Amino acid sequence: MRLVHISDLHFGAVEPGLPEALRVAILEARPDLVAVSGDLTMRGLKREFQEATTFLDSIPLPRIVVPGNHDVQGTWKIWERFLSPWKNYQSVVDRNLEPVWRAPGINVLGANSARPAGWYLDWSRGRVSRRQMASLASSFRDTDKEVLHVLVVHHPPAAPPGGTPRQLIGRLDEFSSAVNRAGVDLILSGHFHMSYAQAIPLKAGQATRSCILSSVSTATSHRRKGEPNGFHVIDGNARELSIQDWAWNGTHYLKRRTWMFQSGPDRDWKMLSATL
Ligand SMILES: [Fe+2]
Ligand SMILES: [Fe+2]
Repeated sequence: MRLVHISDLHFGAVEPGLPEALRVAILEARPDLVAVSGDLTMRGLKREFQEATTFLDSIPLPRIVVPGNHDVQGTWKIWERFLSPWKNYQSVVDRNLEPVWRAPGINVLGANSARPAGWYLDWSRGRVSRRQMASLASSFRDTDKEVLHVLVVHHPPAAPPGGTPRQLIGRLDEFSSAVNRAGVDLILSGHFHMSYAQAIPLKAGQATRSCILSSVSTATSHRRKGEPNGFHVIDGNARELSIQDWAWNGTHYLKRRTWMFQSGPDRDWKMLSATL
């Protein structure tokens, strides 16, 4: 099973030429699924979603997409943020904000962590509701140890190495415990515009264990945070998994790093190696 993980396309702030280079790179990678972990646009505008969808439609492969905080509409028309935050996303990208993709050996669930507003100042923060956490467990009810359980969610549950914990997903302890109970093997996130992969310890729901986090930099925008544009290629199954980090050097995509992971009993994942 091969996935390509991309995120933070940010149409509206796209680097000219990058979408076409990325399209070619994804087709060359020949993945079974393209996972897009949010922030398709800059301001949630209809024309930005149309550009993003035109790009995604040019890649004739199965895909799963979740929204990010930039995909809430109403940056300028603030009332839209409260009355119809997802209208543009749902009319252009997908009515379903939490899609599911299943194939033999793999279940992939999308969760929407972006919020139009909240009782806090920074509305770019993300969180998942208790209802969403409950549905996590039922979506992965398949207890077959051979099935890889993947969660796609925009806001990550762990910061990049040396990074700030600011803007991690809200209700972190509850979320971590829900991920543990649901038997999630791999989380695909973005938001920080940084490429990293880790085995992250989960709060005890039953047994304490770790799952894998893959977080990628911005795929196509100039909103780089000291990181080149890039994507991850993920190969594996419920026993072992590798994550390749591909980065744009201005003319080509180059493979920068590979992280290898192995699963012990009860989906307890460990990093075996990280090679440059
Ligand atoms: Fe972003
Ligand atoms: Fe974001």
